[in-house]
Amino acid sequence: ETAVLQRIDAKRAEAFLGGGQKRIDTQHGKGKLTARERIDLLLDTDSFREYDAFVEHQCYDFDMNKQKITGDGVVTGYGTINGRLVYVFSQDFTAFGGSLSKTHAQKICKIMDQAMLVGAPVIGLNDSGGARIQEGVDSLGGYADIFQKNVLASGVVPQISLIMGPCAGGAVYSPALTDFTFMVRDTSYLFVTGPDVVKAVTNEEVTQEELGGAKAHTTKSGVAHLAFDNDVEALLKLREFVDFLPLSSQNEVPKRRTDDPSERADAALDTIVPVDSTKAYDIKKVISRIVDTNTFFEIMPDFAKNMVIGFARLDGRTVSIVANQPLVSSGVLDINASIKAARWVRFCDAFNIPLLTFVDVPGFLPGTSQEHGGIIRNGAKLLYAFAEATVPKITVITRKAYGGAYDVMSSKHLRGDLNYSWPTGEIAVMGAKGAVEIIFRNVKDKTQAEADYVAKFANPLPAAQRGFLDDIIVPSTTRSRIIRDLKMLKTKTLRNPAKKHGNIPL
Ligand code: COA
Repeated sequence: ETAVLQRIDAKRAEAFLGGGQKRIDTQHGKGKLTARERIDLLLDTDSFREYDAFVEHQCYDFDMNKQKITGDGVVTGYGTINGRLVYVFSQDFTAFGGSLSKTHAQKICKIMDQAMLVGAPVIGLNDSGGARIQEGVDSLGGYADIFQKNVLASGVVPQISLIMGPCAGGAVYSPALTDFTFMVRDTSYLFVTGPDVVKAVTNEEVTQEELGGAKAHTTKSGVAHLAFDNDVEALLKLREFVDFLPLSSQNEVPKRRTDDPSERADAALDTIVPVDSTKAYDIKKVISRIVDTNTFFEIMPDFAKNMVIGFARLDGRTVSIVANQPLVSSGVLDINASIKAARWVRFCDAFNIPLLTFVDVPGFLPGTSQEHGGIIRNGAKLLYAFAEATVPKITVITRKAYGGAYDVMSSKHLRGDLNYSWPTGEIAVMGAKGAVEIIFRNVKDKTQAEADYVAKFANPLPAAQRGFLDDIIVPSTTRSRIIRDLKMLKTKTLRNPAKKHGNIPL
């Protein structure tokens, strides 16, 4: 009997070492932590409970039956982040390069199933050479099984992927299906085909980092939502991020303690919007002054910077921020900004996080590149997302709300709950200059016409007179008003018509 116990202990110790000390040293040499070290940093101390530590692959081809690594290249289980349950899988690059075998996939699927049953987020720490080459189609099947579960879990439990090493080929599609993809600078990359294939097919020379590193995906492709400098920073930030999320679509986010008084007025907001409406200002400063101190957590800060999205807390509760950024291209709506905000709005709606939208938008970006790139189809995504959302929706127009973009940006017409404007709001079909050019084409001196137009439309009164704004508010009181509104809206219930699913323009 003791012999069995010894064997069990020995196997457990083996599993603990993954691919062995030498490969662990190589992993550290690359500035990367091991799969288990990552889990320890991510989860609360001693909270991790492992599943399937004894699992080994079942492959006989290529003499694989002689090469088994206990655990088979992935560590799976559950634990807590600030006391709240999460499921984690952490791929172990030291074991067969973290490559995905049939059993490796089964381990991941097992915790995904469990997460769905109990209602808790799934966090994937990805570090893998891709499909286990020796296993062929078994491994491809394993990926597809994970993809299917990713899709069924979408909108039920939050799914987060942190890319901490290679992730190539079919492997990229699981992170792509999850709600958020984060990366580590210089040590992680994501691509469908690597530099060698790129060279062979297109004759293009490109490094891994240029092709699919954190910079490429957080600034150009929009595939990744955040980039971090190293494993430690990434895991600690991920803990902070998870704190904003509910465990599932059936759960509320717990209220956090805050020292920031809900009735705090911020006088600086009364003068933050420049009198000259062509002058820019930083909407992030506006956001930070309104939400609980130091709680604004921006997502995708380096992609489509004309649109700002992120979490924040108001009176300790998670809210979603969507805001035009006047500092970048006057906050214009373009393809990337629309896509960025649309997916964000849908995530927040799926998980019952109230939407707080700040509007200062001169319209959609004109031009052939936008039109031919499908601004109509892509702008429609954001319109669809806001219109479909049933969560509490509060909108504050800080300055411009021109043209179709006024409608899109969570307007009253899209079932906004509270739609406000600051006194600096200008809600019109377009700016005075453009408008006068069209409606007074034949008038020589347009100065008077322009002044008339400004007087008539460059203020929030026409919209308020029609009930398209619920009120015009003093900027310094924005925080206290929104906090009260959110309290009032807690019992909001709104359901869209029953259907199989809608058909969002993709
Ligand atoms: N299947 C099986 N084993 C794999 C593997 C895979 N897909 N990817 C890596 N490994 C193994 C390697 O054989 C090596 O084993 P060893 O330690 O016993 O020698 C170990 O994992 C580490 O790989 P190595 O190539 O030494 O690491 P690296 O850091 O130099 O390179 C990669 C990492 C991912 C770039 C490289 O391993 C690679 O190109 N792998 C294949 C990627 C691929 O095409 N996958 C299939 C497409 S989905």
